[in-house]
Amino acid sequence: ENKPRIPVLWLHGLECTCCSESFIRSAHPLVKDVILSMLSLDYDDTIMASAGHQAEAIVTEIVEKNKGNYILAVEGNPPLNEDGMFCIIGGKPFVDQLKYAASNAKAIISWGSCASWGCVQAARPNPTRATPVHQVITDKPIIKVPGCPPIAEVMTAVVTYILTFERFPELDRQGRPKMFYSQRIHDKCYRRPHFDAGQYVESWDDEGARKGYCLYKMGCKGPTTYNACSTVRWNNGTSFPIQSGHGCIGCSEEGFWDKGGFYDRL
Ligand code: SF4
Ligand code: SF4
Ligand code: F3S
Repeated sequence: ENKPRIPVLWLHGLECTCCSESFIRSAHPLVKDVILSMLSLDYDDTIMASAGHQAEAIVTEIVEKNKGNYILAVEGNPPLNEDGMFCIIGGKPFVDQLKYAASNAKAIISWGSCASWGCVQAARPNPTRATPVHQVITDKPIIKVPGCPPIAEVMTAVVTYILTFERFPELDRQGRPKMFYSQRIHDKCYRRPHFDAGQYVESWDDEGARKGYCLYKMGCKGPTTYNACSTVRWNNGTSFPIQSGHGCIGCSEEGFWDKGGFYDRL
């Protein structure tokens, strides 16, 4: 109880903020407990009260006063074309803020597919040269928590694990926590018996769709997507895309925007 809460600096580059939207909906643990009791979220320009110079001064304070003792959480990524001019924070390119904030960090969390892989802004032809965090910061431990966005409880579970054990959970070769990304959606999908039986939805309103058949022929990317949606599910375990009638578009996979996940048949 007397242990000081570890400071967290949460930056936002090129992103849509839905990773934050997901995070604040965590039910287990409740996000209020994460933010108010478990860690010290000292900077997050999306939800903090202060703004302008007052806010930017907090970044400097965290970086200089907590050397090697704060976590840098990054939502979004830096665009590198035109010296980073496509994303300006506090009058400077985001890539500069990212490098500075990373300089004394203990470790980095790359939230979502933007920070982990590049996501929509890095889709071909990637005009701003949006670049994932690990390709810009190469001298710090980085954990990737991909998904567009990641599941809320996966995000808070990763934070809880790091705070509890003071280390990252076991990661796969791509830097993702194995506990949530070691299985494909397809491995635990409740429609899998229909896949095995060769029962497929052939068009969106056919009899197979009404019966809940497999969505493979409608382009479901579950067989090649590593994420926890078919086990943890979304909205406090309520549902996930396939359960609501649409195939998985592979949102946690690298380069999914360019891999035909959107209404293409396989
Ligand atoms: Fe938004 Fe997806 Fe990027 Fe998260 S990963 S900030 S949800 S575009
Ligand atoms: Fe696999 Fe998708 Fe069919 Fe589920 S709906 S069994 S994930 S192909
Ligand atoms: Fe994304 Fe597929 Fe899950 S689209 S939310 S990884 S079911």
